[in-house]
Amino acid sequence: MNHKVLPNVTVVDHPLIQHKLTIMRDKETSIAGFRRLLREIAHLLCYEVTRDLELEMIPIETPMQQMEAPTIKGKKLVFASILRAGNGLLEGMLDLVPAARVAHIGIYRDHETLQPVEYYFKAPSNLEDRLVIVVDPMLATANSATAAIDKLKERGANKIRFLCLLAAPEGVERFTHAHPDVPIFTAAIDDHLNDKGYIVPGLGDAGDRMYGTK
Ligand code: PRP
Ligand code: URA
Repeated sequence: MNHKVLPNVTVVDHPLIQHKLTIMRDKETSIAGFRRLLREIAHLLCYEVTRDLELEMIPIETPMQQMEAPTIKGKKLVFASILRAGNGLLEGMLDLVPAARVAHIGIYRDHETLQPVEYYFKAPSNLEDRLVIVVDPMLATANSATAAIDKLKERGANKIRFLCLLAAPEGVERFTHAHPDVPIFTAAIDDHLNDKGYIVPGLGDAGDRMYGTK
């Protein structure tokens, strides 16, 4: 069963997610395996983060007769990927919601200061009318996610959810303080951040493990 550690934080602890996450954490897992697993987990997380979307009935005609059938209400969703590693989750999300709009937010954290450095931002228009789901596998200090959401809010987004794979308790605290209106969905909350800002036990550097850039 999923559980809420705080009112706004859902840990999606489906056995398939937990099993796949364990393989991802293993330092012996290959780059190809890591990428495939992240995409598979994204499918399962996408299912949860969209579970309560509102439906509306539309008339259609089946080969047998007319009927009123449910469809997702409102404008297309926006998936906002924090580059680079967010793209690993994004691909899996788009497998399930191929018509979603996509925002790309280029942010990396300075390795010394752990402060976010922004280098790219491109988002669809009408953010104020859409649900925006921000994706990034790692919520460590939360500096990157907080900056990304600041930017989306500046551009009008007002219904936002944040989806990650792993979070540090320190990051969850900072994030919920900075953006109490943004629910977090994560597969796990780990033990702590180390003095270099890495999640422990974690899985290492997600971008490097996805793209082989160490
Ligand atoms: C990683 C990760 C998050 C960020 C999390 O990206 O994908 O964006 O770190 O850390 P924070 O919560 O302390 O900000 P990174 O900065 O390594 O950039 P990359 O994806 O380009 O490698
Ligand atoms: N970013 C990562 O990729 N891994 C961590 O553990 C922390 C930040």
